Amino acid sequence: MVTLVGGGPGADGLITVDGLLALQRADVVVADRLGPLDLLAQLGPHVEIVDAAKNPRGSAMPQDKINDLLIEHALAGREVVRFKGGDPFVFGRGHEELEACAAAGVPTRVVPGVSSAFAGPAAIGVPVTHRGATHGVTVVSGHLPPDHPNSLVDWSAVARSGTTIVVLMGVATLPAIADVLRAGGLPATTPAAVVADAGGRAQREARGTLATIAGTAADAGIAPPAIAVIGAVAALSTPRPAEGGASA
Ligand SMILES: C[S@@+](CC[C@H](N)C(=O)[O-])C[C@H]1O[C@@H](n2cnc3c(N)ncnc32)[C@H](O)[C@@H]1O
Repeated sequence: MVTLVGGGPGADGLITVDGLLALQRADVVVADRLGPLDLLAQLGPHVEIVDAAKNPRGSAMPQDKINDLLIEHALAGREVVRFKGGDPFVFGRGHEELEACAAAGVPTRVVPGVSSAFAGPAAIGVPVTHRGATHGVTVVSGHLPPDHPNSLVDWSAVARSGTTIVVLMGVATLPAIADVLRAGGLPATTPAAVVADAGGRAQREARGTLATIAGTAADAGIAPPAIAVIGAVAALSTPRPAEGGASA
């Protein structure tokens, strides 16, 4: 059996109970770079941990090799956990891996995780929806620049969607994304925020508008992994308790 576990965005407490139980039952854990990796140190000495980290610009274990590893261990009768950051089905190649396992006759299971698409904004007090402000949220990848021939995102439709826009993997492309959203009709004054290493010790944030966010993010030293959130909700933050406490 291969169990695909979403570990959440990085803080140990944001893995699900089911995910933690799967980890504790594992003989082999094949882990990515993001997610609550500290939890792996708590597993027994018999557990084999394989680092399948995919650095944005560094060397990475090829996807075929990862698939082969999962299959090989599972066919040898081991309980395998494929451990990923956030939710495995949100820009996580999760289904590809399940398909490869199934094709090799290996049964699979998925344990969803808390996606950074929602937990990232929440870490800086930004709700991705808010009554009266927006009736939806659009989660997009900024991995490819908007004008890239392989981009599957219709950025002008996103600009017109009236929803909160959450961009993953968009640090390098943020200036171009802000430009294309403005060209698509989103006002330059639309609030925007960026959070890096959300929930971790190195969490950083930048705030601004569609016109300024690329600059403020660069000034704040924002680097991957980071989430950008664009829309009225990006002006919100964690409410402070009222002075004087609750009134009866
Ligand atoms: C390949 S995607 C994986 C997303 C993951 N499956 C999820 O649901 O969160 C990696 C991107 O997720 C975002 N990300 C993941 N963890 C994050 C964190 N702790 N803080 C900010 N962004 C994060 C970043 O945009 C990063 O480039």
